[in-house]
Amino acid sequence: MIGIIGAMALEIDGLKKEMENTSANTISGVEFSVGVIGGTEVVIAQAGVGKVNAAVTAQTMILKYNPSVIINIGVAGGIEPSLKIGDIVVADKVCEHDMDTTAVGDEPGFITGIDTVYMHCDSEISNIISVCAKDMGLHTVRGTIATGDIFVAENSVRNRISQLFNGVAAEMEGGSIGHVCVMNNVPFAILRAMSDCANDDSKVDFPVFAAKAAENSIKIILRFLNTYKG
Ligand code: ADE
Repeated sequence: MIGIIGAMALEIDGLKKEMENTSANTISGVEFSVGVIGGTEVVIAQAGVGKVNAAVTAQTMILKYNPSVIINIGVAGGIEPSLKIGDIVVADKVCEHDMDTTAVGDEPGFITGIDTVYMHCDSEISNIISVCAKDMGLHTVRGTIATGDIFVAENSVRNRISQLFNGVAAEMEGGSIGHVCVMNNVPFAILRAMSDCANDDSKVDFPVFAAKAAENSIKIILRFLNTYKG
């Protein structure tokens, strides 16, 4: 079974519509929908926004459904200069840009316990998702997605993420899902479509473009589910 997590309804509702043989179960206020897409069994959850919501959802999904991989889909703010609204980022690794124990000597983003800054995505699944996006004619960038409990809407924050973590996009869940997956030894991948450019214009751009961008990530994951046979 493949696990799929999105934060907001607009990031997963279009995918849930494609499910057959659906059943649902609500745990800790999060709805887990189980069904089949393209012949593949999936569990889809809407986590809510931010790292704690995403972590609770990923951990619950792992314990209850034992997915072979978790894929996080949705929108993000693009940082890599070639990225425009609607473009795609498939992460090769994720980090938590707001994790900061530098005062006691750690490097920025260091996560005590798993003792790393970067969590690596499953390369096989990420490569296939990337090919699906490119085959659809979408400009697709690979790199580090930086996660934090901050909607990045200032050039200064964007520049910090770029300089410290070489982040190509910013969002609010992927690093937390990666963190939980590393703790549980579950492979994961992160697919995001750009709703804004994580800059001074984001406040205006996000509400206008989020739904349209999210459609791109849903179309790509549908193509993936229709081609990937585990
Ligand atoms: N998701 C979409 N755009 C974002 C941004 N600018 N910052 C954080 N998360 C986002």
